[in-house]
Amino acid sequence: MSSSLLVDSHGRVLRDLRVSVTDRCNFRCLYCLPETEAAQNFYRGRWATLPTSKPIAWEWQPKSKILTFEEIERVVRIAVGLGIQKIRLTGGEPLLRHHLEDLVARLARLPGITDLAMTTNGFLFAEKGPALRAAGLRRISFSLDSLDRANFQKITGRDGLAEVLAGIRLAGELGLNPVKVNAVIIRGINDHEIEALAGFAHTHGLALRFIEFMPLDSAHAWQKELVVPGTEILQRLLAVHPLQPVVSANAAETARRWTFADGRGELGLISPVSEPFCGHCNRLRLTADGKLRTCLFSVTEHDLRGRLRSAATDVDLAAYLQAVVWGKEARHHIGEPEFAQPARSMSCIGG
Ligand code: 5AD
Ligand code: SF4
Repeated sequence: MSSSLLVDSHGRVLRDLRVSVTDRCNFRCLYCLPETEAAQNFYRGRWATLPTSKPIAWEWQPKSKILTFEEIERVVRIAVGLGIQKIRLTGGEPLLRHHLEDLVARLARLPGITDLAMTTNGFLFAEKGPALRAAGLRRISFSLDSLDRANFQKITGRDGLAEVLAGIRLAGELGLNPVKVNAVIIRGINDHEIEALAGFAHTHGLALRFIEFMPLDSAHAWQKELVVPGTEILQRLLAVHPLQPVVSANAAETARRWTFADGRGELGLISPVSEPFCGHCNRLRLTADGKLRTCLFSVTEHDLRGRLRSAATDVDLAAYLQAVVWGKEARHHIGEPEFAQPARSMSCIGG
C-alpha cells in the first residue's frame, strides 16, 4: 500500500471526488427535495387529494458555513496529491453558485485532474454554459426524468422542460463530450417514459443513464415498490432496440452500458439498489458545508471545514483525509432491516 494514496480498509483506492458547491436548488424533485405535502406523499397515491397543500419549510445552510472557492481549491489540490483524478461538481444545483466558472478555471489549472465534470439540472445551462466551457469544463451530466412537459413539472416542481432541453442542445454545440443525461425512474411516475427517453438519447447522440430510485429523498418516502429494477428497464429496452453491450475496462464504472446498432447515443443502467456496486466504489464526497462523506448512505459526516478554518497545514489535512477514507463503509444496506436513511437528502450530499 502506498502511503500517499486514499485507501480504505477494504482495499479500495479512491480516485473520484464529488464536490457539492451549494445545497440550494431551483428545482424540487420529488425524489430529492419535494416542495409540498402532496409531492412528498406521491407514493401513497394521495396526490390528487392534497392539491393545494402548503410548502414544506426548508432551510438552506447559511453562507458562512459554505466553503469558499479558495477552500474548495485547497481540498481538491490536496486530494489530487493523494491520487484523486476525477472531480465532479454537484449541488444542490451547482449553477446557482455565483461565478462558478471561476472555480472551474481554478480547478482546470490543477495538474493531475484527468476528468473535470459537473452534474446539473440544466435549467440555467443555456445561460452559463459558454463561460463554463471556456473556463475548462470538459464533461457534463444533466438530470432529465421526463420528456413530457406536465410530467416534468410534476416530478421537478418546475415548468422547465424547454430550458433543460435547450441546455442539453447547447452542451453538444459547445463540444462537451459525452453529454450525459441521468433519468431517475420511479414506478408509477415516469416508468412509462423509458422507451421515449431511450429514443431521445439515440436521436440526439446522448449517453443516457437510467438510475434506480434510492432512499435519499428529504421526505423519507422511498419504498422498494417504487424502484424499477435495472433488469426490468433493460428488458423493455431490448424489446425495442437491438442493443449491444459495452465492455468496460473501468472496474469502478457504475453503469452497465449498451450501444445502439448504428453507434449513435448510448444507454446505461445504474442499479445501486438491485445490484449494488459498492465493492468497486472509488468515490469520496465533500458537501457544500465542508463535510466529508465516504458513502452516499453514510450516517456520519467528517468535519473538514473546521479543520480548514483552523491552523491545520496541508500535511495535517492530507493525513485527515486518509484517516477518514480508511473508515469508508464496505457497502450500503438498502433493503436490509437495519438500514437507516441518512438525515440529509441528495440535495445536500451531491450526486
Ligand atoms: N435516487 C436516485 N437518484 C437521485 N438523484 C437525486 N436524488 C435521487 C434519488 N433519491 C439524482 C439526480 C441527479 C443526481 C445528482 O442524482 O437526478 O441526476
Ligand atoms: Fe459507493 Fe456508497 Fe454508493 Fe456503495 S452506496 S456505491 S459505497 S457511494
